[in-house]
Amino acid sequence: MHGKTILLIIGGGIAAFKALELVRELRRAGARVLPVLTENGARFVTPLSLSALAGEKVRTSLWDLEDEAAMGHIQLSRAADLIVVCPATADLMARAATGQADDLATTLLLATDTPVLMVPAMNVRMWLHAATQRNIATLRGDGIMVMTPDDGVMACGEFGPGRLPEVPAIMAAIAAALGPKPLAGKTALVTAGPTHEAIDPVRFIGNHSSGKQGFAIAAALAAAGARVTLVAGPVALPTPVGVTRVDVVSARDMLAASLAALPVDIAVMVAAVADWRAEAAPGKLKKGADGPPALALIENPDILATVGHHAQRPRLVIGFAAETGDLIAHAGAKRVKKGADWIIANDVSNGVFGSDDNHVHRLGSAGVEDWGAASKAEIAARLVRAIATEFPA
Ligand code: CTP
Repeated sequence: MHGKTILLIIGGGIAAFKALELVRELRRAGARVLPVLTENGARFVTPLSLSALAGEKVRTSLWDLEDEAAMGHIQLSRAADLIVVCPATADLMARAATGQADDLATTLLLATDTPVLMVPAMNVRMWLHAATQRNIATLRGDGIMVMTPDDGVMACGEFGPGRLPEVPAIMAAIAAALGPKPLAGKTALVTAGPTHEAIDPVRFIGNHSSGKQGFAIAAALAAAGARVTLVAGPVALPTPVGVTRVDVVSARDMLAASLAALPVDIAVMVAAVADWRAEAAPGKLKKGADGPPALALIENPDILATVGHHAQRPRLVIGFAAETGDLIAHAGAKRVKKGADWIIANDVSNGVFGSDDNHVHRLGSAGVEDWGAASKAEIAARLVRAIATEFPA
């Protein structure tokens, strides 16, 4: 972030005060911050405190003659390496989505091709409203990065998604947006999470996969510039910035969504796909005199193996192997059988599921590398660095 210029637009919401903390963190990281306050933003933070923290003049109006002479608004938005809108209110996003330019903030957003990161914060109902979701889809379609807000208790007392993400998460998204893009122009497919196989309308066969490792990989690939489709089983994790997410439930849905994403350059299959399903009963299975029902299990399609042997096989196919013994031998056999270039193998005998940490080995044609114990985010970053070396610019 050192030496980078961030144009920070502060919208009018109760979360605006947190933008002050963001300014402080950005400056601590060596960035220059050019603050812009919307008219409503100025009701929540004062230009004086903002300019004191930023060490810059705060711009609020489109009609500031002095600024127009010295540095016009178009120049202002183009001089920046990144535009961050924080908090991005429902109203500001609606106006940006429809290309309005009736104040300084929206004019800056319209008059630029600088990358834009929006950090939404609003009441839960406003966030969930179809109009807001439609506007976000439009903004994302226009190439604007929109973070997913946090869940929790809101200033208004309601509970749900809509809280401004924590400042470290915003800093990470900014660092990713500013970072090098070794995978620009490349496409990737990631599967993540468990699958649920219905045995009747109310019950399913599932597993403990949290989806964290797959989501971290999707986020790291997107941060490196790849266009990522994330096929996610049932997990309640926020969608990483810049990632197109397809939610599925069963292994067969996951296979269909994965094949629909082809062709891609890179496939990373992280999902803990249920190996078996049962013929789902049309009605709820009932207890009775006959004792427990017998479940006849049917083997599910292997998504990694299907993609690994597909006519449109991605140039780089990566699988994971979860083992509880004989890690390297089992993982090596899976690599060959499933047509993967690499297998990232981990021992799941001691509580990896749901945890933020992992210890993995990479198996490739050149042999085995021990990547040591690391957080799932670090493993994702390392994997993406390794992927990038396969796609030299
Ligand atoms: N995988 C898949 N589709 C399946 C099963 C597994 O795509 N139906 C993928 C996983 O996403 C992972 C890899 O295959 O990348 C290995 O998964 P793992 O559960 O370790 O292996 P299994 O195929 O289940 O083999 P085993 O039961 O022998 O451990």
